[in-house]
Amino acid sequence: MSSSNSFFKEKRAWSRIKDEVLKAYLVPYLAKVSRTRCPIIVADCFAGKGCFDNGEPGSPLIIAEAISHQLADPTTQAIKAVFIEKKYFKNLKENIPQKPWCHLLEGDYEEKMDYFVNNYPSRNQNLFLYVDPYGIKSILFSYFEKIHKKKDLHSVELLLNLNTFGFLREACRLLKFKILENDTPEDYEPDINTPERLNDIAGGTYWREIIGRYNTCQIKMPEAEELFVTKYCEQLRTVFRYVVNIPIKVKISHIPKYRIVFATDHVDALLLMVDNMNKRWAAFREEARNNQFALIEIDFPNPSIQGACRDIENEIVSLIDTEIELKELLVRLAQKFGINFSLKDYKDCLKKMENNQIEVTRFPSLTPATGKPSTSWDHTKKDLSIKISRRVQWQPPLL
Ligand SMILES: C[S@@+](CC[C@H](N)C(=O)[O-])C[C@H]1O[C@@H](n2cnc3c(N)ncnc32)[C@H](O)[C@@H]1O
Repeated sequence: MSSSNSFFKEKRAWSRIKDEVLKAYLVPYLAKVSRTRCPIIVADCFAGKGCFDNGEPGSPLIIAEAISHQLADPTTQAIKAVFIEKKYFKNLKENIPQKPWCHLLEGDYEEKMDYFVNNYPSRNQNLFLYVDPYGIKSILFSYFEKIHKKKDLHSVELLLNLNTFGFLREACRLLKFKILENDTPEDYEPDINTPERLNDIAGGTYWREIIGRYNTCQIKMPEAEELFVTKYCEQLRTVFRYVVNIPIKVKISHIPKYRIVFATDHVDALLLMVDNMNKRWAAFREEARNNQFALIEIDFPNPSIQGACRDIENEIVSLIDTEIELKELLVRLAQKFGINFSLKDYKDCLKKMENNQIEVTRFPSLTPATGKPSTSWDHTKKDLSIKISRRVQWQPPLL
């Protein structure tokens, strides 16, 4: 991600957004998952020092604060935080609060992951994995598969900071392909020994075709990066049901510095994270616009689906077969458009379409408290069904 020696000096703009995404997701995640009455483990797999040298909180302190906040609710089940760190374990130990629910593991992620998979999460636990390495060397795809296969877990979610550009740069080096000067990440450090290791990280060999097309000038690096992350997410979708990602760029014209990838099996988690990522993206874009010194600019929407984004109403209609629950429609939209829109954006659009392109049927049709016709768009209410169907347009009879 950043050159490893200076990483903890101060928090850079591109580190800030991943912290914001983590913070904004963890609080509602812990509140919601606590209701499952199953214990929760939050594992920070590349924990770092705990905080930056200027005192700003790193992921361990963000996680510890979110857990303390949730534990203040007396109905909350057990929550544990597990922090894995190799180089800065001593700093981490000093910076993290001494709490019975904080567990610190010193050593290598790969080793600790084996130990962790075999010993930690026991029956019916909810596991949230935060994976934030410097580079890509350690993040073997098989670990995510192994953890997900632990059938006795109640739920598993993964938030991964993936250096896609660094991966492709390593691929070019290892395959001895020529690379343009601009096609090297700013703080690139070679750290992979064999192409086989890249297969293990990517969870397949699909990257070879992508990088082959780059080598023969059929595509440029930004397109190669986009194709690579699409394939990586597809591969991750063979493990988790839903996968979304947000590109983090330093300049709009740049290739993403890294991608924040989120994977889950739960629709509520998908919708929560899509909304969170969209809001974080919008806030950072606003900051970049208002502050000429802002370091970070984030491109939007995702270039590969730009056309569809401009034609959202027709896209919505095309996702409705006959009739569909609002929540299911939101899930389909989130899968199609990723983080490009917030749930509010979709609902605003649906409101405009109501009684034009779509019909909305609510049950109960009257609001119990007022007795007036319901106009709710709240997809989270258990006792309210909101169904959407295409509006049949009146056609003049053929003469
Ligand atoms: C990007 S930093 C993590 C930053 C942290 N998430 C935060 O927000 O403050 C990556 C951390 O992983 C640690 N690390 C690198 N390779 C590791 C490995 N194989 N096992 C465990 N820790 C490792 C580094 O020492 C570094 O502290």
